[in-house]
Amino acid sequence: MAKINIAIDGPSGVGKSTIADIVADKLNYVHLDTGAMYRCVAYYVLKNEIDYSNEELLEKALSDLKISFQNDHVYLNGEDVTKEIRTNDISMMASKTSAVPMVRQKLVDLQKEIAKSKGYILDGRDICTVVLPDAEVKIFMNADAKARAQRRYDEYINKGIDADYETIYQDIIARDYQDSHRKISPLKKADDAIEIDTSHLTIDEVVDAVLNIINKEI
Ligand code: C5P
Repeated sequence: MAKINIAIDGPSGVGKSTIADIVADKLNYVHLDTGAMYRCVAYYVLKNEIDYSNEELLEKALSDLKISFQNDHVYLNGEDVTKEIRTNDISMMASKTSAVPMVRQKLVDLQKEIAKSKGYILDGRDICTVVLPDAEVKIFMNADAKARAQRRYDEYINKGIDADYETIYQDIIARDYQDSHRKISPLKKADDAIEIDTSHLTIDEVVDAVLNIINKEI
């Protein structure tokens, strides 16, 4: 069966990555978590105390970054940062640094290059609108902020990461605002993307809904 590309967008904590991972496994596709790439930039900037408003410093930092994925782990310049990039501080910083044009340019170019061939599922904020506007399947996942905060909280606790529900909820509201009000590539549903509201759906139900959409195209 010929492979296609699948683009999934949606706000923070909607479960895009979890769903994309499962669907990719079922179809034998490769899942590219673009949020993890923005998180790597944020991690690098915070760790090295880089003033990202200084273009020269940022350009140097971006050229030093090597992000790779292996067996569900994320590596930044060879360091396994899978767990480190999932903290609230990194989430907030990723939302800020992802609004910087130079950061977006670098990561969007990388993502386009990776997904040149078919058989990819990319999830993020601008996949249907900017990175893969010609993807055969475009999906916008949505859910109300409280449901998303609860899921993120549960995810952190399951992974052994300290978490506070109220802080996560407020951060999700703040990130929704930042991500949908930035000048370049704000989070928005592409006109031709199919929307799935996951607020009251289980993971299995969302996976089924996504597979139903994909099966019409393959
Ligand atoms: O999806 P995740 O929460 O891991 O993404 C972290 C941050 O990276 C988001 O809040 C958003 O600001 C940014 N992002 C983006 N474009 C993408 C993916 C993530 O701007 N394609």
